[in-house]
Amino acid sequence: QFYPVILAGGSGERFWPLSRKSKPKQFLVLDDSGQSLIQSTVSRLTRIPGVSIEDVLIVTGTDYRMQVLEHLPELPTENLLVEPVARDTAAAVLYAAMKIAQIDALGMMGVFHSDHRVDRPEVFSQVVQQAIQLAAADDILVTIGIEATYPSIAYGYIERGEPVTSDALYPAYRVQQFTEKPDAHTAAEFLATGRYCWNSGMFIWQVQSILAAFARHQPALYQAMGEAFAQRGGVRTTYPTFQKISIDYAILEKASNVVVIPAEFGWDDLGDWNALERLLRGQGENVAVGRHVGIDTGGAILYTTNGDDLIATIGLEDVVVVRTAEVTLVVHKDRTQDIKRLVQQLKENP
Ligand code: GDD
Ligand code: MG
Repeated sequence: QFYPVILAGGSGERFWPLSRKSKPKQFLVLDDSGQSLIQSTVSRLTRIPGVSIEDVLIVTGTDYRMQVLEHLPELPTENLLVEPVARDTAAAVLYAAMKIAQIDALGMMGVFHSDHRVDRPEVFSQVVQQAIQLAAADDILVTIGIEATYPSIAYGYIERGEPVTSDALYPAYRVQQFTEKPDAHTAAEFLATGRYCWNSGMFIWQVQSILAAFARHQPALYQAMGEAFAQRGGVRTTYPTFQKISIDYAILEKASNVVVIPAEFGWDDLGDWNALERLLRGQGENVAVGRHVGIDTGGAILYTTNGDDLIATIGLEDVVVVRTAEVTLVVHKDRTQDIKRLVQQLKENP
Protein backbone atom coordinates (compact mmCIF):
# COMPACT_ATOMS: atom_id res chain seq x y z
CA GLN A 1 0.00 0.00 0.00
CA PHE A 2 1.09 3.54 -0.81
CA TYR A 3 0.72 6.24 1.84
CA PRO A 4 1.14 9.82 0.60
CA VAL A 5 2.24 12.21 3.33
CA ILE A 6 1.52 15.89 2.86
CA LEU A 7 3.76 18.35 4.68
CA ALA A 8 1.52 21.23 5.66
CA GLY A 9 3.22 22.89 8.58
CA GLY A 10 5.14 25.66 6.87
CA SER A 11 4.27 29.21 7.77
CA GLY A 12 4.59 30.41 4.15
CA GLU A 13 6.55 33.49 5.07
CA ARG A 14 7.58 34.38 1.54
CA PHE A 15 3.97 35.18 0.64
CA TRP A 16 3.70 37.71 3.43
CA PRO A 17 1.62 39.80 3.94
CA LEU A 18 -1.04 37.79 2.09
CA SER A 19 -0.10 34.71 4.02
CA ARG A 20 0.02 35.45 7.70
CA LYS A 21 1.15 33.15 10.45
CA SER A 22 -2.52 32.39 11.00
CA LYS A 23 -3.15 31.59 7.34
CA PRO A 24 -0.13 30.30 5.44
CA LYS A 25 0.09 29.66 1.73
CA GLN A 26 -1.34 26.13 1.72
CA PHE A 27 -4.74 27.53 2.77
CA LEU A 28 -4.85 30.26 0.12
CA VAL A 29 -6.81 30.04 -3.12
CA LEU A 30 -4.36 31.47 -5.63
CA ASP A 31 -5.95 30.55 -8.95
CA ASP A 32 -9.45 30.30 -10.36
CA SER A 33 -10.01 26.61 -9.40
CA GLY A 34 -11.81 27.64 -6.23
CA GLN A 35 -9.63 25.15 -4.34
CA SER A 36 -7.00 26.02 -1.80
CA LEU A 37 -3.52 24.68 -2.50
CA ILE A 38 -3.87 21.93 0.11
CA GLN A 39 -7.22 20.88 -1.37
CA SER A 40 -5.76 20.60 -4.88
CA THR A 41 -2.85 18.61 -3.46
CA VAL A 42 -5.21 16.05 -1.96
CA SER A 43 -7.36 15.86 -5.13
CA ARG A 44 -4.26 15.24 -7.20
CA LEU A 45 -3.05 12.44 -4.92
CA THR A 46 -6.38 10.68 -4.54
CA ARG A 47 -6.66 10.59 -8.32
CA ILE A 48 -3.77 8.10 -8.37
CA PRO A 49 -5.25 4.61 -8.82
CA GLY A 50 -5.41 2.74 -5.50
CA VAL A 51 -5.05 5.84 -3.35
CA SER A 52 -7.98 7.08 -1.28
CA ILE A 53 -8.29 9.81 1.31
CA GLU A 54 -8.00 7.11 4.02
CA ASP A 55 -4.38 6.54 2.95
CA VAL A 56 -3.35 10.21 3.05
CA LEU A 57 -1.47 11.49 6.10
CA ILE A 58 -1.04 15.16 6.83
CA VAL A 59 1.63 16.56 9.12
CA THR A 60 0.97 20.04 10.40
CA GLY A 61 1.38 22.27 13.43
CA THR A 62 -1.07 22.76 16.29
CA ASP A 63 -2.00 26.19 14.94
CA TYR A 64 -3.17 24.75 11.61
CA ARG A 65 -5.01 21.68 12.84
CA MET A 66 -8.47 23.24 12.59
CA GLN A 67 -7.82 24.79 9.19
CA VAL A 68 -6.66 21.46 7.75
CA LEU A 69 -9.83 19.78 8.99
CA GLU A 70 -11.99 22.58 7.59
CA HIS A 71 -10.33 22.36 4.20
CA LEU A 72 -10.40 18.55 4.18
CA PRO A 73 -13.61 17.41 5.90
CA GLU A 74 -13.24 13.86 4.49
CA LEU A 75 -9.84 13.29 6.07
CA PRO A 76 -10.05 10.78 8.95
CA THR A 77 -8.88 12.71 12.02
CA GLU A 78 -6.38 9.99 12.94
CA ASN A 79 -4.60 10.72 9.63
CA LEU A 80 -3.67 14.14 10.91
CA LEU A 81 -0.32 14.20 12.69
CA VAL A 82 0.07 17.33 14.76
CA GLU A 83 3.43 18.77 15.73
CA PRO A 84 3.36 20.81 18.94
CA VAL A 85 5.99 23.12 17.44
CA ALA A 86 7.49 23.32 13.95
CA ARG A 87 10.81 21.52 13.72
CA ASP A 88 11.19 21.67 9.93
CA THR A 89 10.68 18.85 7.45
CA ALA A 90 13.14 16.19 8.65
CA ALA A 91 11.29 15.71 11.92
CA ALA A 92 7.92 15.86 10.14
CA VAL A 93 8.95 13.16 7.64
CA LEU A 94 10.38 10.92 10.36
CA TYR A 95 7.26 11.32 12.48
CA ALA A 96 5.08 10.26 9.54
CA ALA A 97 7.42 7.38 8.65
CA MET A 98 7.20 5.95 12.16
CA LYS A 99 3.44 6.28 12.05
CA ILE A 100 3.21 4.44 8.71
CA ALA A 101 5.60 1.72 9.87
CA GLN A 102 3.27 1.15 12.80
CA ILE A 103 0.25 0.71 10.51
CA ASP A 104 2.04 -1.22 7.77
CA ALA A 105 5.71 -2.13 8.18
CA LEU A 106 5.99 -2.95 4.48
CA GLY A 107 4.26 0.23 3.33
CA MET A 108 5.40 2.59 0.62
CA MET A 109 5.63 6.25 1.55
CA GLY A 110 5.40 9.39 -0.53
CA VAL A 111 6.25 12.91 0.60
CA PHE A 112 4.51 15.89 -0.99
CA HIS A 113 4.28 19.58 -0.27
CA SER A 114 0.95 21.18 0.48
CA ASP A 115 1.51 24.28 -1.59
CA HIS A 116 2.63 23.41 -5.11
CA ARG A 117 0.92 23.89 -8.43
CA VAL A 118 0.70 21.02 -10.93
CA ASP A 119 -0.91 21.75 -14.29
CA ARG A 120 -1.06 18.17 -15.58
CA PRO A 121 -2.25 15.85 -12.82
CA GLU A 122 -2.44 12.85 -15.23
CA VAL A 123 1.27 13.05 -15.94
CA PHE A 124 1.99 13.63 -12.26
CA SER A 125 0.02 10.47 -11.46
CA GLN A 126 1.99 8.39 -13.99
CA VAL A 127 5.31 9.62 -12.70
CA VAL A 128 4.38 8.86 -9.09
CA GLN A 129 3.19 5.38 -10.05
CA GLN A 130 6.46 4.72 -11.79
CA ALA A 131 8.40 5.99 -8.79
CA ILE A 132 6.43 3.64 -6.52
CA GLN A 133 7.27 0.68 -8.77
CA LEU A 134 10.93 1.57 -8.78
CA ALA A 135 11.22 2.16 -5.04
CA ALA A 136 9.20 -0.93 -4.15
CA ALA A 137 11.89 -3.10 -5.75
CA ASP A 138 14.92 -1.50 -4.16
CA ASP A 139 16.32 0.21 -1.06
CA ILE A 140 16.46 3.62 -2.72
CA LEU A 141 15.22 7.12 -2.09
CA VAL A 142 13.42 8.33 -5.20
CA THR A 143 12.99 12.02 -5.81
CA ILE A 144 11.02 13.65 -8.59
CA GLY A 145 13.15 16.18 -10.44
CA ILE A 146 12.07 19.17 -12.46
CA GLU A 147 14.08 20.46 -15.40
CA ALA A 148 16.03 23.52 -14.19
CA THR A 149 15.37 26.52 -16.42
CA TYR A 150 16.96 29.44 -14.54
CA PRO A 151 19.53 29.74 -11.73
CA SER A 152 17.05 29.80 -8.86
CA ILE A 153 18.46 29.91 -5.33
CA ALA A 154 15.19 28.71 -3.85
CA TYR A 155 15.58 25.06 -4.86
CA GLY A 156 17.67 22.01 -4.24
CA TYR A 157 19.76 20.89 -7.23
CA ILE A 158 20.18 17.29 -8.33
CA GLU A 159 23.01 16.11 -10.52
CA ARG A 160 22.06 13.16 -12.71
CA GLY A 161 24.39 10.17 -12.83
CA GLU A 162 24.04 6.76 -14.50
CA PRO A 163 20.62 5.73 -15.77
CA VAL A 164 18.97 2.97 -13.71
CA THR A 165 16.06 2.20 -16.00
CA SER A 166 16.27 2.13 -19.75
CA ASP A 167 12.85 1.17 -21.02
CA ALA A 168 10.61 3.17 -18.71
CA LEU A 169 8.40 5.99 -19.93
CA TYR A 170 10.10 8.30 -17.45
CA PRO A 171 13.75 7.23 -17.13
CA ALA A 172 15.37 7.25 -13.70
CA TYR A 173 18.98 8.12 -12.84
CA ARG A 174 21.31 7.61 -9.93
CA VAL A 175 21.89 10.91 -8.15
CA GLN A 176 25.50 11.98 -8.32
CA GLN A 177 25.12 14.91 -5.99
CA PHE A 178 22.30 16.64 -4.19
CA THR A 179 22.87 20.29 -3.26
CA GLU A 180 20.25 22.09 -1.23
CA LYS A 181 19.74 25.77 -2.14
CA PRO A 182 23.15 26.72 -3.60
CA ASP A 183 24.22 30.38 -3.90
CA ALA A 184 23.51 32.22 -7.16
CA HIS A 185 26.99 31.64 -8.57
CA THR A 186 26.90 27.88 -7.95
CA ALA A 187 23.33 27.67 -9.26
CA ALA A 188 24.43 29.30 -12.52
CA GLU A 189 27.35 26.86 -12.81
CA PHE A 190 25.07 23.90 -12.24
CA LEU A 191 22.63 25.13 -14.84
CA ALA A 192 25.36 25.55 -17.44
CA THR A 193 26.38 21.88 -17.24
CA GLY A 194 22.91 20.73 -18.33
CA ARG A 195 23.16 17.81 -15.89
CA TYR A 196 21.06 19.24 -13.08
CA CYS A 197 17.40 19.33 -12.29
CA TRP A 198 15.60 20.94 -9.39
CA ASN A 199 14.37 18.95 -6.45
CA SER A 200 10.59 19.14 -6.42
CA GLY A 201 10.59 18.08 -2.76
CA MET A 202 8.50 15.03 -3.69
CA PHE A 203 9.96 11.74 -2.52
CA ILE A 204 8.93 8.11 -2.81
CA TRP A 205 10.46 5.25 -0.82
CA GLN A 206 9.75 2.17 1.23
CA VAL A 207 9.02 3.28 4.75
CA GLN A 208 11.84 0.95 5.88
CA SER A 209 14.30 2.65 3.53
CA ILE A 210 13.73 6.10 4.95
CA LEU A 211 13.85 4.78 8.51
CA ALA A 212 17.20 3.15 7.72
CA ALA A 213 18.44 6.40 6.18
CA PHE A 214 17.50 8.33 9.33
CA ALA A 215 19.15 5.74 11.56
CA ARG A 216 22.33 6.17 9.54
CA HIS A 217 22.48 9.89 8.77
CA GLN A 218 20.54 11.39 11.69
CA PRO A 219 21.05 8.90 14.51
CA ALA A 220 20.26 11.38 17.30
CA LEU A 221 16.95 12.47 15.82
CA TYR A 222 16.10 8.87 14.92
CA GLN A 223 16.68 7.67 18.45
CA ALA A 224 14.89 10.60 20.09
CA MET A 225 11.84 10.22 17.84
CA GLY A 226 11.81 6.46 18.40
CA GLU A 227 11.79 6.90 22.16
CA ALA A 228 9.16 9.63 22.01
CA PHE A 229 7.02 7.47 19.78
CA ALA A 230 7.15 4.51 22.14
CA GLN A 231 5.74 6.55 25.03
CA ARG A 232 2.19 7.73 25.39
CA GLY A 233 2.20 11.50 24.81
CA GLY A 234 5.95 11.27 24.22
CA VAL A 235 5.91 12.99 20.85
CA ARG A 236 4.10 15.99 22.31
CA THR A 237 6.56 16.53 25.12
CA THR A 238 9.77 15.68 23.25
CA TYR A 239 9.10 17.37 19.92
CA PRO A 240 10.41 20.81 20.96
CA THR A 241 13.83 19.27 21.65
CA PHE A 242 14.26 17.92 18.11
CA GLN A 243 16.79 19.53 15.81
CA LYS A 244 15.36 21.98 13.31
CA ILE A 245 16.62 20.78 9.95
CA SER A 246 15.04 20.12 6.57
CA ILE A 247 14.87 16.65 5.02
CA ASP A 248 17.07 17.91 2.18
CA TYR A 249 20.02 18.78 4.42
CA ALA A 250 19.35 15.96 6.87
CA ILE A 251 19.04 13.04 4.45
CA LEU A 252 19.08 13.79 0.72
CA GLU A 253 22.45 15.59 0.71
CA LYS A 254 24.00 12.74 2.68
CA ALA A 255 22.50 9.53 1.30
CA SER A 256 24.20 7.63 -1.52
CA ASN A 257 21.12 5.65 -2.63
CA VAL A 258 19.18 8.55 -4.13
CA VAL A 259 17.54 8.15 -7.53
CA VAL A 260 15.86 10.88 -9.56
CA ILE A 261 13.05 10.72 -12.09
CA PRO A 262 13.14 13.94 -14.11
CA ALA A 263 9.59 14.92 -14.99
CA GLU A 264 7.59 17.70 -16.50
CA PHE A 265 4.01 18.26 -15.40
CA GLY A 266 3.64 22.01 -15.23
CA TRP A 267 5.10 22.22 -11.75
CA ASP A 268 5.55 25.41 -9.79
CA ASP A 269 6.48 25.65 -6.16
CA LEU A 270 4.79 29.06 -5.92
CA GLY A 271 7.76 29.94 -3.78
CA ASP A 272 7.31 33.70 -3.64
CA TRP A 273 5.46 36.61 -5.19
CA ASN A 274 7.14 36.16 -8.57
CA ALA A 275 5.13 32.96 -8.97
CA LEU A 276 2.01 35.02 -9.44
CA GLU A 277 3.32 36.11 -12.79
CA ARG A 278 3.67 32.51 -13.91
CA LEU A 279 0.31 31.63 -12.46
CA LEU A 280 -1.64 34.46 -14.01
CA ARG A 281 0.20 35.26 -17.21
CA GLY A 282 3.51 35.39 -19.02
CA GLN A 283 6.31 37.73 -18.08
CA GLY A 284 6.93 41.26 -19.28
CA GLU A 285 3.68 43.02 -18.67
CA ASN A 286 2.20 44.02 -15.35
CA VAL A 287 0.24 41.42 -13.43
CA ALA A 288 -2.49 42.80 -11.23
CA VAL A 289 -4.97 41.24 -8.87
CA GLY A 290 -7.28 44.06 -7.89
CA ARG A 291 -7.24 47.55 -9.36
CA HIS A 292 -4.12 49.19 -10.71
CA VAL A 293 -3.34 52.33 -12.67
CA GLY A 294 0.19 53.01 -13.79
CA ILE A 295 2.28 55.37 -15.88
CA ASP A 296 5.59 54.03 -17.15
CA THR A 297 5.30 50.97 -14.97
CA GLY A 298 6.64 47.68 -16.28
CA GLY A 299 6.96 44.09 -15.14
CA ALA A 300 5.17 44.85 -11.90
CA ILE A 301 3.18 42.49 -9.73
CA LEU A 302 0.35 44.26 -7.94
CA TYR A 303 -2.01 42.66 -5.49
CA THR A 304 -4.80 44.07 -3.37
CA THR A 305 -6.94 41.90 -1.14
CA ASN A 306 -9.73 44.42 -1.13
CA GLY A 307 -11.10 44.70 -4.68
CA ASP A 308 -12.07 48.35 -4.19
CA ASP A 309 -8.57 49.48 -3.29
CA LEU A 310 -6.48 51.03 -6.01
CA ILE A 311 -2.73 50.75 -6.45
CA ALA A 312 -1.23 53.62 -8.45
CA THR A 313 2.37 53.61 -9.67
CA ILE A 314 4.57 55.89 -11.76
CA GLY A 315 8.00 55.20 -13.23
CA LEU A 316 8.60 51.80 -11.66
CA GLU A 317 10.15 48.65 -13.07
CA ASP A 318 10.03 45.13 -11.66
CA VAL A 319 8.43 45.83 -8.33
CA VAL A 320 5.95 43.91 -6.26
CA VAL A 321 3.30 45.90 -4.41
CA VAL A 322 0.96 44.07 -2.08
CA ARG A 323 -1.77 45.79 -0.15
CA THR A 324 -3.80 44.04 2.53
CA ALA A 325 -6.03 45.53 5.21
CA GLU A 326 -3.10 45.83 7.61
CA VAL A 327 0.04 45.97 5.53
CA THR A 328 1.48 47.53 2.39
CA LEU A 329 4.56 45.79 1.04
CA VAL A 330 6.77 47.25 -1.69
CA VAL A 331 9.67 45.06 -2.76
CA HIS A 332 11.89 44.69 -5.80
CA LYS A 333 11.24 41.47 -7.71
CA ASP A 334 14.86 40.38 -7.18
CA ARG A 335 14.49 40.57 -3.44
CA THR A 336 11.28 38.65 -2.77
CA GLN A 337 13.22 35.79 -1.17
CA ASP A 338 14.24 38.25 1.55
CA ILE A 339 10.67 38.72 2.72
CA LYS A 340 11.39 35.77 4.98
CA ARG A 341 14.07 37.86 6.71
CA LEU A 342 11.73 40.78 7.06
CA VAL A 343 9.11 38.61 8.70
CA GLN A 344 11.78 37.28 11.02
CA GLN A 345 12.69 40.82 12.01
CA LEU A 346 9.07 41.65 12.65
CA LYS A 347 8.80 38.61 14.89
CA GLU A 348 11.71 39.84 16.95
CA ASN A 349 10.53 43.48 17.06
CA PRO A 350 6.82 43.53 16.36
N1 GDD B 1 4.65 19.57 9.03
C1 GDD B 1 5.56 20.48 8.71
N2 GDD B 1 6.42 20.93 9.68
N3 GDD B 1 5.63 20.93 7.45
C2 GDD B 1 6.56 21.84 7.16
C3 GDD B 1 7.47 22.35 8.11
C4 GDD B 1 7.37 21.86 9.45
O1 GDD B 1 8.11 22.24 10.36
N4 GDD B 1 8.27 23.26 7.48
C5 GDD B 1 7.87 23.29 6.20
N5 GDD B 1 6.82 22.46 5.98
C6 GDD B 1 6.09 22.17 4.75
C7 GDD B 1 5.64 23.39 3.97
O2 GDD B 1 4.29 23.70 4.30
C8 GDD B 1 5.78 22.90 2.53
O3 GDD B 1 4.61 22.20 2.13
C9 GDD B 1 6.93 21.90 2.59
O4 GDD B 1 7.00 21.46 3.94
C10 GDD B 1 8.29 22.44 2.14
O5 GDD B 1 8.71 23.49 2.96
P1 GDD B 1 9.27 24.85 2.35
O6 GDD B 1 9.67 25.72 3.47
O7 GDD B 1 8.28 25.39 1.37
O8 GDD B 1 10.58 24.33 1.60
P2 GDD B 1 11.28 25.08 0.41
O9 GDD B 1 10.31 25.36 -0.68
O10 GDD B 1 12.03 26.24 0.95
O11 GDD B 1 12.38 24.00 -0.11
C11 GDD B 1 12.01 22.67 -0.40
O12 GDD B 1 11.19 22.58 -1.54
C12 GDD B 1 11.80 22.97 -2.80
C13 GDD B 1 10.78 22.77 -3.89
O13 GDD B 1 9.63 23.49 -3.60
C14 GDD B 1 13.29 21.84 -0.61
O14 GDD B 1 12.92 20.48 -0.62
C15 GDD B 1 14.01 22.19 -1.91
O15 GDD B 1 15.08 21.29 -2.15
C16 GDD B 1 13.02 22.10 -3.07
O16 GDD B 1 13.67 22.48 -4.29
MG1 MG C 1 8.20 25.64 -0.77
